[in-house]
Amino acid sequence: MTVDATTTTTTTTNPRNITVIGCGYLGAVHAAAMADIGHNVLGFDVDVDKVALLNTGHTPFYEPGLDELLERALATGRLRFTTSYEETATFGDVHFLCVGTPQQKGSHAADLVYVRSAIQTLAPMLTKPSLVVGKSTVPVGTAEWVRDELHRLAPAGEDIRLAWNPEFLREGFAVQDTLRPDRLVIGVESQRDEAELADLYAPIRAQGMPWVVVDLATAQLVKNAANAFLATKISFINAMAELCEATGADVVALADAIGHDARIGRRFLQAGVGFGGGCLPKDLRGFMARADELGVDQALAFLRDVDDINMRRRRRAVDVAIELLGGSVNGANIAVLGAAFKPDSDDIRDSPALDVATSLHDIGANVVVTDPKALDNARRTRPGLTYIEDVREAVANADVLLHLTEWREYRDLDPAEIGSLVSHRNILDGRNALDAKLWQDAGWDIRALGRPSLGHSHAQ
Ligand code: UGA
Repeated sequence: MTVDATTTTTTTTNPRNITVIGCGYLGAVHAAAMADIGHNVLGFDVDVDKVALLNTGHTPFYEPGLDELLERALATGRLRFTTSYEETATFGDVHFLCVGTPQQKGSHAADLVYVRSAIQTLAPMLTKPSLVVGKSTVPVGTAEWVRDELHRLAPAGEDIRLAWNPEFLREGFAVQDTLRPDRLVIGVESQRDEAELADLYAPIRAQGMPWVVVDLATAQLVKNAANAFLATKISFINAMAELCEATGADVVALADAIGHDARIGRRFLQAGVGFGGGCLPKDLRGFMARADELGVDQALAFLRDVDDINMRRRRRAVDVAIELLGGSVNGANIAVLGAAFKPDSDDIRDSPALDVATSLHDIGANVVVTDPKALDNARRTRPGLTYIEDVREAVANADVLLHLTEWREYRDLDPAEIGSLVSHRNILDGRNALDAKLWQDAGWDIRALGRPSLGHSHAQ
């Protein structure tokens, strides 16, 4: 049996009525996936436009495979979306909580306003026994608060049970990560809840991934720890990049060499402009803020460095761009390849690419940004930059190119062809994803973060 991004071959023998509260990235994919494996699903969101769009089989964001999954799920008649809390409360035997937990303005802590509002609105309408399952990434201790609120506010009282089931999906692979996760982690307070979730996930579990049963506190911490570890791994290799820059060593070769050790592993050792997005940066900060509240701030003090190393890489990219321009930025033409925080996504939250572009714009460069999917989002949040969809148009007359999001189409560019369009053949590979030799052979001065400069081909 295979379950992948486009096909699901088994469906549940015990369909449940499931609601998914909050249909952003996580919720929309979860709702479609649960319907795909045979459950009857009602997705809830407060955003009227989003609900209307989802009901027509479209998503407000770009995620490979999601529109197909959504359309397929809608066609079964087992999935629909609503803005009514009443309908949601009445429909569900199991309610998945998937609302966002962004970073608070003016603080590092997670903002739990959406968690609080969803629970405090829903709970007074819960009149029949049901299981609420938290999936949002939260500071440890939130689940216990949610459980107590449910018991306090729901007419069904302690017949409303709570479980926590953190989600590890990556943008760009969200469908695959949901239908074929590498593990399922559930935090429960009773064997009954474990059995209920085991049955609910049976078609996915049948593929044989680890089923990890823990308590509520551990379940919340697993997610915090996973993202903190991934961020640490990226910043570790970026710290090595700083060492490489100071010594003439090559961070890519170094990552390959240490990555052969199975205890270390090569994944997430891709040096460059660092991590961004709606998860790693804010989760890292939220985790530190929570440790502080718990009186164990020293335990996570190293994450401050992880964050600092990450932000330093953006500044380093700006410095290399200035070097490539011979020190004079004012009036220089810079083309930035990539706006999304990573390829196969239109998400520009905390995007290193846009940060670098903005810094250079602010010191007087003419910055043109191109991206296959993220330009509408980028334009909305950073209206001061110039955006051009067509990559060839975007690079025209550039004095320097900055490759900051490693979309496939940028890796496939022909350096000779692109070279004929620019004013000067200068490029910074901020993701260590281009074939440096190829660009150098086409006469480019190619620089990369954490790698020795190859210089111009004729200078060799
Ligand atoms: C991350 C986690 O990988 C997921 O497991 C988690 O579920 C998700 O956050 C979440 O909390 O919802 P995501 O934000 O989609 O997923 O992106 P990642 O693939 O983790 O990449 C994060 C950033 O790190 C990107 O900007 C990427 O370019 C950068 N990165 C990644 C590197 O700079 N180097 C690497 O080696 C890997």
